[in-house]
Amino acid sequence: MSMDTDETPKAGGPGRLYAAIGLAMALLLIGTGAYMWFSGGTPAGITVGGPFALQNGDGKPVSDKDFRGKYMLVYFGYTYCPDVCPTTLNAVADAMDKLGPKADRIRPLFITVDPKRDSPAVVKQFAAAFGPRMEGLTGSVEQIATVAKEYRVYYAEHRTGPGPDDYTMDHSSVLYLMGPDGRFIAPIRADMAADQMAASLAKLVS
Ligand code: NI
Repeated sequence: MSMDTDETPKAGGPGRLYAAIGLAMALLLIGTGAYMWFSGGTPAGITVGGPFALQNGDGKPVSDKDFRGKYMLVYFGYTYCPDVCPTTLNAVADAMDKLGPKADRIRPLFITVDPKRDSPAVVKQFAAAFGPRMEGLTGSVEQIATVAKEYRVYYAEHRTGPGPDDYTMDHSSVLYLMGPDGRFIAPIRADMAADQMAASLAKLVS
């Protein structure tokens, strides 16, 4: 299971300890979840995903119900991400191109974990760089916290300086394939090459 740790904490200071504890906890939780997922579906009582209320790139309210009838391929990240998010979303865009007609059944969604900086206009512009199907979503701090919790996404602000924008976001990096009924189908590894990702999706999407 991959983590997107955009920047290592500065040596020393209490921040480093807390970051290390947080990361260890997250890896434990994510690791457990991943094991359960990959060993044959989610056990009873474990849910992934759920209803969400967010905003699209035009600032209009959008909910999970707006995507019923299509598969959602959900990724959580942030637009200032220096590496992992753009790499993953490029692979998604290429995988969609390779999928052929089945790509029309899938809606790739990018949900920011950095709503303070990622306004609707910012996520719209960012998502547009990854093909015509990709839709960027944002929301209030509370709305993002709710949807991230439902999808079992770990994210944390990591300070890099004293200014308000001096931070990066650590976040888990997994793609979630949700069915046309909104239910979780499978995690898709975010570090796969585009052909591999397309092959995985082709098997799961009818
Ligand atoms: Ni990232």
